[in-house]
Amino acid sequence: MAVQRTLSIIKPDATRRNLTGKIIAKFEDAGLRVVAQKRIRLTKEEAGRFYAVHRERPFYDELCEFMASAPIVVQVLEGEDAIAKNREVMGATDPAEAAEGTIRKEFALSKGENSVHGSDAPETAAEEIRFFFSELEIVG
Ligand code: CMP
Repeated sequence: MAVQRTLSIIKPDATRRNLTGKIIAKFEDAGLRVVAQKRIRLTKEEAGRFYAVHRERPFYDELCEFMASAPIVVQVLEGEDAIAKNREVMGATDPAEAAEGTIRKEFALSKGENSVHGSDAPETAAEEIRFFFSELEIVG
């Protein structure tokens, strides 16, 4: 399996509860490396652009409002099979369905306030990384 990069977001429900370090430890324990990271606060409009693929969904407005409600930590994670590995460590979108030991099982509050986001495929990973980071900010 090739070394990949994926975009990770530690969401407002997690930064509010001071869980950033505990979540990063889960990624590192799984063999993922943080090769870029910053704490930012999105506007609702910026959150809307990031989640544009969901614009027709009933939860879109709520999602954008939530993502702009507090700071987030955006990261590029690197490692063997990083996209799938990150999704495995995050667990299912709905914490009620997430496996034991996953981030969402341990920390997520609901399907919406689910603590973390991770890219779902190589094309979206490249696009999402470009949305937040320039090449100069990514140091492997
Ligand atoms: P994420 O992996 O960031 O991708 C899209 C997000 O939409 C998802 O995690 C959830 O936070 C959110 N989401 C998905 N389904 C629902 C839902 N039914 N209600 C509210 N938010 C949702």
